[in-house]
Formats: sequence, C-alpha cells, structure tokens
Amino acid sequence: MMATAGRRDAQVKRLVVGISGATGIIYGIRLLETLHAAPGIETHLVLSAAAKRTMVEETSWTVQQVETLATRSYPDRDIGAAIASGSFSTCGMVIAPCSMKTLAAVATGYTESLLARAADVTLKEGRCLIALVRETPLHRGHLEAMLALAQAGGIVWPPLPDFSRRPRSVAAVIDETVGHVLRRLGFSDDVPPQWEEVKARTGRNAGQGAETAPAGARQRPASEASTGARLAIATAAPGAGGQRSGPP
Ligand SMILES: Cc1cc2nc3c(=O)[nH]c(=O)nc-3n(C[C@H](O)[C@H](O)[C@H](O)COP(=O)(O)O)c2cc1C
Repeated sequence: MMATAGRRDAQVKRLVVGISGATGIIYGIRLLETLHAAPGIETHLVLSAAAKRTMVEETSWTVQQVETLATRSYPDRDIGAAIASGSFSTCGMVIAPCSMKTLAAVATGYTESLLARAADVTLKEGRCLIALVRETPLHRGHLEAMLALAQAGGIVWPPLPDFSRRPRSVAAVIDETVGHVLRRLGFSDDVPPQWEEVKARTGRNAGQGAETAPAGARQRPASEASTGARLAIATAAPGAGGQRSGPP
C-alpha cells in the first residue's frame, strides 16, 4: 500500500501558488485557472489577507471561487500546513503577484506567514521559486530585497509586458507571462491543451479585458471598463477588424 501511494505521489506534480496583496491578482488567478483540471498537476494555494482585499478591489472573483481553482488551499496563518514542510515534495512555487512586503519576508527568511514559510522552504530545498514582484517605482530597499532573493536562488520575475509580441489586450499580456512562467517550471508538456481550452472558453483572444469573470459575476458597466478593455481599444487598429495600427 505504501509503495503504491509513493508511486502515485511521484507521478503527481505539485506546485505551490502564493498570492500576495500586490496589484495584479489576476496573474495568480490565471495561473490557477490554467492548471485547473490539468491531469497530474496539483496546485496548493495560499492567499495572504492583503491578497483577499486586493482581489475584491480589482477583480470580480470571490476568494471562494479562486480557492476552488486550486487542488487544496490553506489559511495563511496555518504555519503547520503541509506546504510549510520540506518533506512535502513539490516541483516549486510561484508567488503571483509578489508584494514588496512578501518579497522582503522571503528575502530575509522572516517566515511569519504560511506564504513566506512555503517560499522559504522552496528555497531551502533547492526548488524553483518564481516571484512576480510588483511595485513601481522601486526604491533601494526593494532592489536590495530582489537581489537578496536572487542570491538565495529565487527567480525575480516582474510581470512586464513583452511588446515585441504586439499584444492586443491586457489578457494577452497576462497569458504571455503565465505561459512563460509555466514553461520555466517545466510544465510545457502538461499545460498546452488546457491552456488552449481556457483561451477558447473565455474568448480572451478576442481582445477582451484582463479578467476572466467567474460564472455568475456581475458585468461591469462601460463606465467601469477595466484597464484591459481600455488597453485592447488603445492597441487595436482603429476600425481595422483586428489589424494593428502603428508605423510600418
Ligand atoms: C489595491 C491595492 C494594490 C496594491 N498594490 C501593491 C503593489 O503593487 N505592490 C506592493 O508591494 N503592495 C501593494 N499593495 C499593498 C500591499 O497589499 C500591502 O503592503 C500588504 O501589507 C501586503 O501584504 P502581503 O505581502 O502579506 O500580501 C496594494 C494594496 C492594495 C489595497
């Protein structure tokens, strides 16, 4: 029985996902959404208290809906949870987005919360830790914390748009970053089918806003149009049916 369970565990890839209270909660949500129902991948989620606040402010998702996307979720105060231990085998952790507070905690080993502890464990076990750090502008303390994290083996990954790909919406910008992160984690072989399915289901290639609204979510009136919708308008060619504008 033990050996069977061991083999099953070895086949499952576990990814810890931390969502902290920086702006850009949608990065973490999109990551979970992409891996949701992917065979052989478990996601273990921890949301900080600030993340819950930011989620409400900038998306239509509820905390409960986001937690449902994960295989398992843990309270941030539960410092005795499975993901707080190095013996809980994972293939890494992504913090998306990563606030300056969480960055500082992880960079200095100040692991008061489960999110910071799980990241600390990821580093000490030599696993892949990717932090989508988000703040602007950056002062010296922020930069030093980023350097400390990189020196400890973490990957400092500010979620910056790649304009060379000529994204037509904020959703495309987010997808690009999430896809890149997942490829870096070695999920290239596991993710593409689900990835395409998510895109098809949500119609995000059609230049919609940044959010994939959860089922039953309130539609925002035009006056509340998301940044995503505004960017889509700004970058799409005027009246050109999807052709881009700009210099030849
Ligand atoms: C709407 C909103 C946006 C925020 N954006 C950022 C941000 O981009 N970067 C950041 O470091 N903090 C940001 N903050 C502040 C953090 O939420 C705050 O520092 C919090 O204590 C972080 O806690 P955590 O790291 O435990 O999630 C934001 C707060 C709110 C309410």
